[in-house]
Amino acid sequence: MSATLPENVGTLVERIDRLRRERRAVILVHNYQLGEVQDVADFAGDSLDLSRRAAATDAKVIVFCGVRFMAETAKILAPDRTVLLPDGESGCPMADMIDGPQLRRFKAEHPDAAVVCYVNSTAEVKAECDVCCTSANAAKVVASLPADRELLFVPDRYLGGHVQRTTGRRMTLWPGYCPTHARILPEHVERRKREHPGAVVLAHPECRAEVTALADQVLSTGQMLRFVHESDATTFIVATELGILHPLQRDNPGKRFVPASEQAICPDMKRITLEKVLWSLEELQTPIEIPEETRRRAEASLRRMLDVA
Ligand code: 13P
Ligand code: SF4
Repeated sequence: MSATLPENVGTLVERIDRLRRERRAVILVHNYQLGEVQDVADFAGDSLDLSRRAAATDAKVIVFCGVRFMAETAKILAPDRTVLLPDGESGCPMADMIDGPQLRRFKAEHPDAAVVCYVNSTAEVKAECDVCCTSANAAKVVASLPADRELLFVPDRYLGGHVQRTTGRRMTLWPGYCPTHARILPEHVERRKREHPGAVVLAHPECRAEVTALADQVLSTGQMLRFVHESDATTFIVATELGILHPLQRDNPGKRFVPASEQAICPDMKRITLEKVLWSLEELQTPIEIPEETRRRAEASLRRMLDVA
């Protein structure tokens, strides 16, 4: 647990536990959330793990501790559940770099293309796409598409570029990016490598191409956790959002984790606190609602992804 915990954390956790039972709720938490929020999770994971969990849960209520597109994904896959985002303002700037009208214009310029859409996107954008992907399965999803089909990839130019390099498939990339991962520069990684010779470098595919080029492994957050667990190495340089250090350190107390940059903090991910989780359970706030026609079309893109990967 971190040193900045609210003093009443014991009571907060007890009240969260009581209400979660009364409401028949499940608390799903992304790996970038505050450590104390990760510690109250029924399940913590990356975007792919969390969407699978949401699709399979029999809980009545899903409290989703992450950003809006993640809670929307849960609602799209589990429409008969109440899905709550404890801070309704917790968005993803990359997801907002393309909207429905922009995507429709992009598609009109490439009428024969299939559209692959990173799950970090709005429900409206997912509804316009052929198939979704996450950082964990993007290469597999792209490789599953017919070799002679033109491909568009939205909204992350860095994940799209990484997939192009690993699959050899050419795609037209939308120029979106994650502002948090863009803060990690190659010189930060070079410096850490000089400070920790022999350390294994792990990078998220949302990082700049010059950063992933320096990595030993390019992985989703869930894949990082599994890789470290199985690795014999003792020191890891980690190029992604700092929240991942909490489960890495907790699950691997004998190993050392060095952030590539102390600046890699996603302000939206950090909006959710234990107080807001409790408030969310007490007041059933903030519910995610998606127009049914949009939800239905977005679900088709997500189900195609889940069928591939
Ligand atoms: P993961 O799916 O790898 O956890 O990544 C989600 C995300 O938002 C990365 O910025
Ligand atoms: Fe979006 Fe980047 Fe934050 Fe992930 S880390 S939620 S991509 S802004």
